[in-house]
Amino acid sequence: MKVMIVYSDGEPEQQTPEDYKGRNDDDNLKDVEEAIKSLNHEVIKVNADENIFQKLLELKGQVDVIYNLAEEGYKLDIHTEPHLAALFEMLGYKFTGSNYLCLANCLDKARAKQLFAVNDLPSPKFQIFSKEINGDLKLNGLNFPLIVKPGKSDGSIGIRKNSVVEDEESLKLRVNEIIQTYEQPALVEEFIDGREINVGILGNKRLTVLPMSEIIFNLPPEEWNFVPYEAKWLTKTKYYKGTVPNCPADVEPGLKAELEELAKKAYSLMGVRGYGRVDFRIDKEGKPYILEVNPNPDISRDAGLTRMITAHGMTYEELIDKILRMGINKDDQEIRIII
Ligand SMILES: Nc1ncnc2c1ncn2[C@@H]1O[C@H](COP(=O)(O)OP(=O)(O)O)[C@@H](O)[C@H]1O
Ligand SMILES: [Mg+2]
Repeated sequence: MKVMIVYSDGEPEQQTPEDYKGRNDDDNLKDVEEAIKSLNHEVIKVNADENIFQKLLELKGQVDVIYNLAEEGYKLDIHTEPHLAALFEMLGYKFTGSNYLCLANCLDKARAKQLFAVNDLPSPKFQIFSKEINGDLKLNGLNFPLIVKPGKSDGSIGIRKNSVVEDEESLKLRVNEIIQTYEQPALVEEFIDGREINVGILGNKRLTVLPMSEIIFNLPPEEWNFVPYEAKWLTKTKYYKGTVPNCPADVEPGLKAELEELAKKAYSLMGVRGYGRVDFRIDKEGKPYILEVNPNPDISRDAGLTRMITAHGMTYEELIDKILRMGINKDDQEIRIII
């Protein structure tokens, strides 16, 4: 079989290069390429840069499936991740992972939360600020502490250790900073203080829930337990060192069943295809909240999903093989109606 890997690489053109500092996604490409080759498939690599349009037109009909690794979009603009999937679909390519509609809905966190709400899926109470706050602040019944994030983003971009706020003054500052820096609405959510558990799922229609993974927090008491940018990418920080994943997580049967049920519902609701990860916070009373659904999550050898499939008894190569097969299954490629 001939597999085209489409990936995102290059120099970011965004105004916030600090949001790319320390990021290292090279392993993603190397690991997936090696695994596909070890399955005896031929690999063609195409970067999602200005040449991609020409290449996709040229190679049409010559590859069996696209492995979509372009999680950071066209020319490293994360907002164009859905557009690339739309392009593949438009040109008649089969491709791995989710379609444009799912990618777009999941990237837009507020929209995803509205979809959760009408489907009775719990997620933290929230409010959107589209304009900078200059005068009085009107909070619609939200209680501090709150967390402020860019409304449409991923990979903890714009989520820093000062994103959790405890008073109106800091909230205003952070909201205005997000709107100015990222030129997009700020999403303010109630901060759920408690455990953080990730649930991985494989499948298109028949879903397999993988063993869960939990972030074990080991941070100084004055810090909030959460996973800001520092914890994901800046290896020398106390946040990186103090947020270690544990998989399989030690989750009591009642909570486990509840998380599995909610994760499957959220995965299907958002129309995730192939593989995905649903992230939860659990408050001190044991109530779970969905933070987000991640279609096409990180898939390098040391990614969270890989830890989960290892705990499930599958090898990395078996995972990549399964993802390719699910990508080729045309029946599952149609757009789902999600509400
Ligand atoms: N409402 C919340 N309560 C507690 N922690 C949160 C909340 N929202 C986000 N976080 C923390 O911030 C991290 C990143 O937030 P998330 O919404 O998943 O953004 P991203 O898409 O960038 O990963 C989460 O893994 C979690 O640790
Ligand atoms: Mg996340």
